[in-house]
Amino acid sequence: MIAIFTDEPQSWHTRELRRALRALGHDCRAVDLRQCRIDLAQRPHGLHLPGFARALPAAAFVRGVPGGTLEQVVLRLDILHALRELGVPVYNEARAIEKSVDKAMTSFLLARAGVPTPPTFAAEDAASAGRFVMKALAAGQRLVSKPLFGSQGRGLARIDAVPDSPPLQDGVAYLQHWLPPRGKTFRDWRVLVAGGRALAGMRRESRHWVTNVAQGGRPRPVDLAEAGNADLARWAVAAASALGMDYAGVDLMRDADGRACVIEVNGVPAWQGLQRVSDIDLAGCLAADLVERKMAAGARAAHG
Ligand SMILES: Nc1ncnc2c1ncn2[C@@H]1O[C@H](COP(=O)(O)OP(=O)(O)OP(=O)(O)O)[C@@H](O)[C@H]1O
Ligand SMILES: [Mg+2]
Repeated sequence: MIAIFTDEPQSWHTRELRRALRALGHDCRAVDLRQCRIDLAQRPHGLHLPGFARALPAAAFVRGVPGGTLEQVVLRLDILHALRELGVPVYNEARAIEKSVDKAMTSFLLARAGVPTPPTFAAEDAASAGRFVMKALAAGQRLVSKPLFGSQGRGLARIDAVPDSPPLQDGVAYLQHWLPPRGKTFRDWRVLVAGGRALAGMRRESRHWVTNVAQGGRPRPVDLAEAGNADLARWAVAAASALGMDYAGVDLMRDADGRACVIEVNGVPAWQGLQRVSDIDLAGCLAADLVERKMAAGARAAHG
């Protein structure tokens, strides 16, 4: 029995995964991380997952980690860490999700792995953040301020002039060089990666510089097999690998010279929007990667 961690057991994504895993011979059960417990009296493993009694899942597909207080989120991630410690293949592992939720860590790890990403600065010291802004503006560079844990384009602000107050959100500054559009339309790319392969991609176009579909961006199909898109696929795969992701939704843009760069890696990506513009069975690809690569590797390690 495979656990699908989600707080939306009836959602399109859960249904798609159920169908795809069943086609590979695996039943699954939707589990809400908020209902899971660490309980050392639960022998032998010290965990309680609703619906699993004493058994452990054969694998876990992490479809969502609900937001909450820092303590609640840490406890939810503890369940995923604990499952991995117990030898359960977890798709994506908690440590990868932690890195990608945190935009500063994502930027650091991308740069360290040699993946192109715009110059980025993160700090909680308002004075140093202010100096970074002054220096960038003086060099003719505009900036984007993002919430460290943002998603769906929420809370993004462009800095075109010296701000009245320090550019901190929730006590920290996360600032990035703003990439201007090439032409009138703003666009970025989303590539879904699984098992080291770029499965599918789409372009998002908008009249606003924040192109998330949740902010009104329009998805357009993109053929990653076309030569002109090879760099997008390549850097998306490298970005997922830099963060230790089994599967990832990677956001890319092109700079003024047309070079691809990665701006965001999502460790619990939705793929419904991408499925609308793609002919490939994405849930099928994800399920196959979990079963045939991740679970098979886990089984080899257990017997080996
Ligand atoms: N450095 C940048 N220059 C220009 N536009 C940017 C830049 N960073 C982000 N954007 C625009 O804002 C959108 C949202 O940014 P980003 O992907 O970093 O945050 P998010 O979508 O809120 O977070 P997540 O991808 O984790 O859900 C991008 O898709 C892009 O359209
Ligand atoms: Mg994004």
